[in-house]
Amino acid sequence: MSGKHFYVTTPIYYANDKPHIGHAYTTLLADVLARYHRLLGYEVFFLTGTDEHGQKVEQAARKRGVSPEEHVDEYHRRFKDLWQRLGIEYDYFIRTTDKDHISFVQKCLQELYDRGEIVLREYEGWYSVSEERFFQEDELVDGKDPIGHKPVEWISEKNYFFLMSKYREALIEHIEKHPDFILPQTRKNEVLGFLRQPLGDLCISRPRARLAWGIPLPFDADFVTYVWFDALLNYESAVVQRSYKDGTPLWPATYHLLGKDILTTHCVYWPTMLLALGHALPCHIFAHGWWLSQGAKQSKSSGNAVDPLGYMDLYGVDTVRYFLLRDMVPGQDASFSDEQFKERINSDLANDLGNALQRVHVFLARSLDGKVPRPPANAGTDEEALRAFTEESIRKVMDLITSLRLSPALEAVAEMVRQVNRYLEKRAPWQVVRDPERKEELNTILYTAAEALRCALILLGPVMPAKVATGLAMLGVKTQPTLLDLAWGGLPSGAPVEPGGPLFPRIQSEAKKEESPAPDVLPAAQLDLRAGRIVEVDDHPSADKLYVLRVDLGSETRTIVAGLKAFRPEDLIERTCVAVANLKAARLRGVESHGMLLAVSLASGPELLSPGDAKPGAELSFQGVVRQPEKRLTVETLQAAKLEVRSGRVTGNGCDLLSGGKPVLFDAPDGTEVR
Ligand code: MSP
Repeated sequence: MSGKHFYVTTPIYYANDKPHIGHAYTTLLADVLARYHRLLGYEVFFLTGTDEHGQKVEQAARKRGVSPEEHVDEYHRRFKDLWQRLGIEYDYFIRTTDKDHISFVQKCLQELYDRGEIVLREYEGWYSVSEERFFQEDELVDGKDPIGHKPVEWISEKNYFFLMSKYREALIEHIEKHPDFILPQTRKNEVLGFLRQPLGDLCISRPRARLAWGIPLPFDADFVTYVWFDALLNYESAVVQRSYKDGTPLWPATYHLLGKDILTTHCVYWPTMLLALGHALPCHIFAHGWWLSQGAKQSKSSGNAVDPLGYMDLYGVDTVRYFLLRDMVPGQDASFSDEQFKERINSDLANDLGNALQRVHVFLARSLDGKVPRPPANAGTDEEALRAFTEESIRKVMDLITSLRLSPALEAVAEMVRQVNRYLEKRAPWQVVRDPERKEELNTILYTAAEALRCALILLGPVMPAKVATGLAMLGVKTQPTLLDLAWGGLPSGAPVEPGGPLFPRIQSEAKKEESPAPDVLPAAQLDLRAGRIVEVDDHPSADKLYVLRVDLGSETRTIVAGLKAFRPEDLIERTCVAVANLKAARLRGVESHGMLLAVSLASGPELLSPGDAKPGAELSFQGVVRQPEKRLTVETLQAAKLEVRSGRVTGNGCDLLSGGKPVLFDAPDGTEVR
């Protein structure tokens, strides 16, 4: 790899197919690598495109009753549209029907023909339309092509051949001298195994009578170019006229990324073509595994193709990007199922990252006047440990990224986030915040957690650009550093944090949704929740676990009996609270109680819910739920409203509780009950 230059390619996809998650994966991998390398200070060129000639495309056009030109004009757009929606930032989209590409291919063909590297021969063999290539008898499996298991036909005709066999030794030598030429190593061994057998010459033409849709051979108008000879040259034709800013030509590519299905074409045909042309070979060819669905390779023809668009519509672009990169281990196959998708997003993003971020954000917003804290004057051992772990992880993640091991890199970032959650559990800012004397300690905890999260988010930036930008703003970070400048201590002290909700809502599984049939009126709608202010606190005359409170509800002051002995009376007086104002009156050890105050039950004891700035008497409601308060609410309906904390927000029947139009926030683990 030359200096700080990075030229990455994807295969050019056949313009006859609807793009599916397999195509999306390679392109996404290229996009994320391009983004990482830009942030690492490389000058990057990212190429993708469509393969528009050949029998497959011609047949697809015929089937639709349109010309091949019309067909590819329409179909190549499907890829462009998907790349736009998937947030793919390529530098150039090549189409093999581009004039410049066609003339480059013809120039190369003529050159090889003039030098005697291409010759005319009689040819017979088993031809697979689906793979667009000939196979030898002993390569067939059950009489079908060994790759797609599709029927083959015996064809005998005159054709032009590229004398590929001449380059076998030179290619083996190149592969052995450059151990990173073919990656991962298993693929390299596979190619070397293939090269140990006799290598034939490559048929590079198709008689025009049989296939008209191709680039005409410049030296024989009765033939068109074999689609792979045309397609592989795209990597070079796209950049022959381009150079990096310092004048270095873009060719050779730094990385060709592809699926293992097209290993031989890229690792044997292509390098031998380049050797014959006397052009430089690409630096690295990286072949990833397949996305499997129901145990088979994802493809349109097997009817198991997952449409990435559907997932993006349902769960957002960034979560799809994260899942694909996180769940395919480099070089291995990966399976895609709805269940796995939901599990991954819920565990890594909703539970771990979303939670940590929401927790820290809520504290910054509430307890530190919405400002980013100062670096701690005296960091303790827990702080030092989190810092050391974060710094070590940054180094590890960078190494993994530059060696294309994105799944382990994302696993390492997920571990950074889990460490932040463990740190928060240990340092319990929710307890520290209660004591005004411990303000400095709160500052230290929040700075340390926010800074560790900032580092993790920046490392995730290329994978989830939009979510990361929002997440960073929730920590007061507006400008993102490059990865080169990423170091502990970059949190902008004093900067205001931007409002933000839970970044990654939990995805409910279908089974769970079905469990709760929708009642006529949602229980949460039947609650009359109001802001209150505690004005009097007395001990209950005959129950030492209870207080008798007088609560100002605006138009009236109510008597409410509450089990809040964990608090001292002076901690309760003048506190704002949320009251269930329509609960059926009940006598509690002889005192009539007219309502109930909502509290969150934490392991450390109850914590009163606060209505924020709302004045006593103000009504609280649930997002998207029309209030229909019952006259006398039963405890059963209150329980059926399932008040609980989810992603840092108080919810009823899964809908956010709003006070003054804003969600009522509470930092507690998901599922913590409110009662
Ligand atoms: N047109 C040729 C490539 C020419 S490159 C000079 C071609 N096109 S394709 O549309 O069939 O795309 C194949 C590529 O799509 C694979 O190499 C891989 O990058 C991606 N994938 C298609 N299905 C896939 C999976 N099920 N899983 C992962 N990626 C796969 O071949």
